[in-house]
Amino acid sequence: MKKKIVILPGDGIGKEVTACGKKVLEQVAECFGHQFVFDYATIGHEAIEATGSPLPDTSLEKMKNCDAILFGAVGHPKYDNDPSAKVRPEQGLLKMRKELGLYANLRPIKLFDELLEASSIKPEILKGADILFFRELTGDVYFGERGRKDEGKTAYDTMIYSRYEVERIAHKAFKAALTRGKKVTSVDKANVLESSRLWREVVQDVARQYPDVEVEHMFVDAAAMKLIQNPRGFDVVVTGNLFGDILTDEASQIAGSMGMLASASIGDTVGLYEPIHGSAHDITGKGIANPLASILSAALLLDISFGLKEESEAVIKAVEKTLREGYRTRDIADANTAHEKILGTEVMGNVVCNNARMLVNCQVAV
Ligand code: IPM
Ligand code: MN
Repeated sequence: MKKKIVILPGDGIGKEVTACGKKVLEQVAECFGHQFVFDYATIGHEAIEATGSPLPDTSLEKMKNCDAILFGAVGHPKYDNDPSAKVRPEQGLLKMRKELGLYANLRPIKLFDELLEASSIKPEILKGADILFFRELTGDVYFGERGRKDEGKTAYDTMIYSRYEVERIAHKAFKAALTRGKKVTSVDKANVLESSRLWREVVQDVARQYPDVEVEHMFVDAAAMKLIQNPRGFDVVVTGNLFGDILTDEASQIAGSMGMLASASIGDTVGLYEPIHGSAHDITGKGIANPLASILSAALLLDISFGLKEESEAVIKAVEKTLREGYRTRDIADANTAHEKILGTEVMGNVVCNNARMLVNCQVAV
C-alpha cells in the first residue's frame, strides 16, 4: 500500500512524541511491505514565529492533499497569561479542524491491565473499563459568535448547534456502538441550555434508527461524577465540543495518564490523529514525555484511515508487551513498584518499535 502522511509536530513535547509515532509507522511500512511517504508541516507557536500565522496556507494545502495526518500538540506558556494576545497557537488547531471538516473526535479510553496501579482511581473500579468518546469538534462555543460589549466590560461566547451537526456525530456514535457494547450515553445540559435541548431531541430521533442500541441521556455534571464512580457503566459516549473536551481529560485518569490517550479526528475527508495531551512546556526538552499516546494515535491512523487492522493491532500489542516487560515513562510509573524500568521518550519509542518487529517476525534489517 502506498500512502502519503503529513507529520505535524507542532509545539513543545509535540515534536518529541510525534518522532516516536512516525518511527513506528516506518517500522510498520517496512515489516508489512507498505510505502509511506512522509512530509512535514508547521502549526502553532512555531508557525506564528516563522510566518505570523498559526496555520500557514502551505500547511493546510499539504494536509488537504495527503492520506492521513499525525499531529503532536500546540501551545506556548507565553500566551496563557496574556489574554490580550490577538494571535494564539490554538487558533491554528481550531482552523485546521474547521477547514478539514474534522467534526468527529474519537477518544478511546481503555486501560492496559499493566497500568491498573498507575491511576489515582481504585483498581477494582477501573478494571475492564472501556469507553469510546465521540466529541463533536467543529461546533459549540468553540465556533459560536463571541465578542465584547459595554466598552469591553462584558464578554460572551455563544453555544450553538444545528440539527445536521448533531445528526452526523450521533450516527457515528450509534454505528460504533453496534460493533461494541450496544449502548450510547449522550451527554448534555438539557435542563438549562436550549442548544442541549436540540441536541437531545436530535439524538432521540437518531436513536430510533438503531433499535438494537440502548440509549441513555445524562446531564454533564452527573456524567462527570459517574465517570469516575463507575466507569464500566459507559460504552459509547457522544457529546458536544466543550463538554467532550472537559470529560475526556477527566476520563484520561481511567487510562492511567494523559500520556496514554490517543485520538482520531475524522470527517468527510482526511483523518487526523493526535494525543489528547497538550504541548506540556514544563517538561519540553527533557526527553521524559510519554510517547505512547502518539504511538497509539499512529495505530488508530493505520486502522481508521488505511484499514490496516493487522498492522494497527501489532502496534497495540507492542505497547502492551512493552508495559508487561515493566518499561514505563515517569507519568505512568508506580512509585510502589521498584522493578519498573523508567525510560525517556526516545528509548521508550524504540522499545515499542523493536517489540512490534519481534511480534510480527519482521525479517527486514533495521
Ligand atoms: C484538545 C485541546 C484543544 C481543545 C485546545 C488546545 C484548543 O485541549 O484537543 O482537547 O480545547 O480542543
Ligand atoms: Mn482538551
